[in-house]
Amino acid sequence: MVKIAPSILSVDFCSLGRDIDRVSSCADWLHVDVMDGLFVPNISVGLPVLKSIRAYTDMFLDVHLMIERPGRYVPAFAEAGADLLSFHLESDTPEALRAALDELDRRGVKKGIVLKPATPAEAALPYLEKGLDLVLIMTVEPGFGGQVFMADQLPKISALKNYVNQHCPSCLVEVDGGVNAETAALCREAGADVLVAGSAVYGAADIPAAIAALRG
Ligand code: DX5
Ligand code: ZN
Repeated sequence: MVKIAPSILSVDFCSLGRDIDRVSSCADWLHVDVMDGLFVPNISVGLPVLKSIRAYTDMFLDVHLMIERPGRYVPAFAEAGADLLSFHLESDTPEALRAALDELDRRGVKKGIVLKPATPAEAALPYLEKGLDLVLIMTVEPGFGGQVFMADQLPKISALKNYVNQHCPSCLVEVDGGVNAETAALCREAGADVLVAGSAVYGAADIPAAIAALRG
């Protein structure tokens, strides 16, 4: 069954604990979006917030770094309590990204890579061949919640699912951006294993029902 990862980007940060409680028993993972104002034109939350979330909940923390040269911060995010850390293929050189993935291995933190909409599925191949826990496909331009799902990314989800099956079957395929009950069905059909949803979860009057609708 598909996993659902509500994104805290859509919460009221003055009530973060309450908003975590609202999803903790009906969702699978908690998705934490970290933005630096450079890699994406927005700034969100960082290390102190992740540390507080870690102390507050046992949920699996799926941390999505949208920052330049993420390797600089891998040790700190690992220590702050990420269960899985993913960063963008576009955020540094292949050598630096490889070193950051190796560092996650040494620290026993699950590792993922993220592809912006313009990055082709093939770019993930060298990383899948060496082993990954997650590959994340953006279905909006990263930086903001509440955007419209890019349906032209659906073939890329299927292509990555095929590559995963061939090269790294234990790797999960995650989709992030504009996921709602309707687009979730398309993502599941294309082979997604994990769906991130911010506005479709936190904008809903009945959160458990919204999460059930994303599962299909
Ligand atoms: C966007 C973030 C997403 C965002 C999704 O850059 O990576 O995780 O919170 O928000 P929705 O589900 O509203 O598109
Ligand atoms: Zn995200």
